[in-house]
Amino acid sequence: MAQNKVYIFDTTLRDGEQVPGCKLNTTEKLELALQLEALGVDIIEAGFPISSPGDFESVSRIAAIVKNATVCGLSRAVQKDIEVAAQALKPARHCRIHTGIGTSDYHIKSKFNSTREDILKRAVQCVKWARNFTDDVEFYAEDAGRTENEYLARVIEAVIAAGATTVNIPDTTGYCLPNQYGEKIAFLVNNVPNIDKAIISCHCHNDLGLATANSISGVMNGARQIECTMNGLGERAGNTSLEEVVMILKQHKDLGYYTNINAKGLNPLSRQVSEIMRMPVQPNKAIVGANAFSHSSGIHQDGFLKDAQTYETINPEEVGAEQSKIVLTARSGRSALAYRFQKLGYQYTRNDIDVLYEAFLKVADSKKEVREEDLVQLAQQHQPETASIA
Ligand code: KIV
Ligand code: ZN
Repeated sequence: MAQNKVYIFDTTLRDGEQVPGCKLNTTEKLELALQLEALGVDIIEAGFPISSPGDFESVSRIAAIVKNATVCGLSRAVQKDIEVAAQALKPARHCRIHTGIGTSDYHIKSKFNSTREDILKRAVQCVKWARNFTDDVEFYAEDAGRTENEYLARVIEAVIAAGATTVNIPDTTGYCLPNQYGEKIAFLVNNVPNIDKAIISCHCHNDLGLATANSISGVMNGARQIECTMNGLGERAGNTSLEEVVMILKQHKDLGYYTNINAKGLNPLSRQVSEIMRMPVQPNKAIVGANAFSHSSGIHQDGFLKDAQTYETINPEEVGAEQSKIVLTARSGRSALAYRFQKLGYQYTRNDIDVLYEAFLKVADSKKEVREEDLVQLAQQHQPETASIA
């Protein structure tokens, strides 16, 4: 096992699909599963087979067509769930059963009306059931984010002894701060004697906007798998966004981690997921938002036009995005205006631009964005003597 490889476990088709209105049919799921595999995802969580006949069929058909990635099915710590997941995953070349139970006192008392000792036994039992079907078993300790570390360590040690090969530490409610989540992972690394027999996985929700930061903190403290979704889709405020964690690890080479993801596929797949799931991507979304590589203020535009790296650390090509854009607004400056005129074929001197800039500002103050057609009109209305069309 490569020490510094971070496995990317995509759950767009399971946790991502739990978003109201994002339900996918089997054909759509098959299409996305193939695209996720082409992107380089290591594990595809294809669904929750016992939840409905439709989900069972989707998991089963994805298992049959995916070649290189591991196909995973979710289950509760219930024997029947695990049997059904195993059945759905039968056609897979590489399959994983993801099973588990809530370990925080909220879950133990309110959800299960149970005790820590009983939950520990059920955790061990579900892993043993799953191991009857596959050697690749992932255990999740739901609400691990709010589970007391000593108890969590006992559960994790016991499930690894029972055969879990990946241990998932979900911050189910997105409550943890990055240092707290990182310390939780470090606590497990330092206090679970058999931790070297399993991969620790981060599964963070975004209720406080910290899912990405928490996942990275988890990795920096010893986790080697991140569970994430395209565009950060998922329950409530969503899951960790795949494109963000992949690019953070890629950009910060000094950290020494790598993933198997082909970053050029990120923007095309983001668009596809957004269309199929009918969930628009917020324009200011990192890496895949429409404005991720747009510059609109004069100070930024001037710096960017002198040297792109002044205001961009990622080349948009690297993540399959369109070229960076210089957007003209009332906050834009003369160099941006000259650049956009030049792109339309107009060559102006500095003096010409000074004259045009005054007219431009009047238009810009009345509009959110000054577009190509406005520039052409400006050029026609204010023809400086030196203007020439290249
Ligand atoms: O958020 C969560 O805890 C989950 C588990 C089922 C893995 O999605
Ligand atoms: Zn989740």
